[in-house]
Amino acid sequence: MDYLEITGGKKLSGTVTISGAKNAALPIIAATILSDKPVTLTNLPNVVDIRTLLKLLTMLGGKVDHENTVALIDNGSITSTKAVYEIVSQMRASILVLGPLLARFGECEVSLPGGCAIGQRPIDLHLKALEAMGAKIEIKSGYVHAMAPNGLIGTRIIFDKITVGGTENIVMAAALAKGTTTIINAAKEPEIVQLCEMIASAGVKIEGIGSSELTIEGTDGKALEFKNVEIIPDRIEAGTYLCAGAITDSTITLDKVNPNHIRASIDKLESMGCSFNIKEESITIYPAEKLKPVNLITIEYPGFPTDMQAQFMAVAARAEGESIIEERLFENRFMHVSELNRLGADIWLKGSIAAVKGVEAFNAADVMATDLRASSALVLAALVAEGTTNIRRIYHLDRGYDNLEGKLTALGADIRRKKEA
Ligand code: UD1
Repeated sequence: MDYLEITGGKKLSGTVTISGAKNAALPIIAATILSDKPVTLTNLPNVVDIRTLLKLLTMLGGKVDHENTVALIDNGSITSTKAVYEIVSQMRASILVLGPLLARFGECEVSLPGGCAIGQRPIDLHLKALEAMGAKIEIKSGYVHAMAPNGLIGTRIIFDKITVGGTENIVMAAALAKGTTTIINAAKEPEIVQLCEMIASAGVKIEGIGSSELTIEGTDGKALEFKNVEIIPDRIEAGTYLCAGAITDSTITLDKVNPNHIRASIDKLESMGCSFNIKEESITIYPAEKLKPVNLITIEYPGFPTDMQAQFMAVAARAEGESIIEERLFENRFMHVSELNRLGADIWLKGSIAAVKGVEAFNAADVMATDLRASSALVLAALVAEGTTNIRRIYHLDRGYDNLEGKLTALGADIRRKKEA
């Protein structure tokens, strides 16, 4: 198994190019199931999650020609509608094939994803909404078996809770449904905007894109024909590199980024004393004279993203004073706290609230990655820890960060990937 060896204390400088967004690419790959014609996706990030979902498409009978950042996908040849446990258990986002498979084929079986390190993460809202659209759903032997032999029917869906994956699944299902679907309390993340735009550019009328109420006029079963899609920049990867600049007191530039998508992270780093030069597709971060503490609460977009909570905790742990961080989206997304404390941080946890007392120095230690974003927080902390930190279980990082050690090395970090003896 690979691990990362990071020697802290190096200043970073230069420019890092931000990859395409994993969380935009995943629903877009799933949406290709709505078509029986080839579609080309570009600017895909080179990460394991993308390869996992593409593998699932080939297991269903789709044809995938994938190299680097480009995939040509032809789902005209799908013969199976069963998304097996072997794949879904590797990546929860595989549940995104549920809506499009059901909408196009009238039936599918998708393994239940189960819990994960950051909480239970149920899919009840996805299922309830599909039932409201006329699907019959049975849970048997760990699988969701969904049936709608005469097609899905558009209806009014009110999500009890804002759900990114749930909104994506229902947007895709609604695209081929009969009649109009209205989604109230929809998520409005940039990744959902891009999914809606992709479907709209295939001729499906969607109103309210980017708002919390979406109205979708379905094609009554007619498969879509997509134009090529260029995946939007990854706002979480971008935010992580901004945090790398902030924690190492370095000036770095992010290229190929959409500054509008990371406003919440920029605002918080500004309040911590960092400054920025923002252009249309690039951002330069200048370090704070003294890092100030920050208070933040994770909420849905455009609020502060839960996917940036761990990285900000690492930065706050080096600020002068006490920061308060509240996690509102996931019940168990503080697994990085004990690992950061192993590196010398002073973080006290009660329920969904962490009190982070800034310390002057971190000390290197052996630490363990627990989930994707928690892992990147450990990398950030290791960049400033005195000595050499080993981070194990980095397969979590490989799921979502494109060439992390290559990009950090190019910025001047001392970071190496090693194999366990
Ligand atoms: C997506 C992102 C993930 C991000 C999260 C929140 C992808 C691939 N993943 O995950 O990186 O952290 O949004 O921004 O895009 N919930 C239910 N029932 C449901 C669905 C969700 O109770 O049926 C709950 C979840 O447990 C969680 C909250 O709603 O507490 C938000 O989850 P959701 O927005 O669905 O997250 P994901 O789509 O899984």
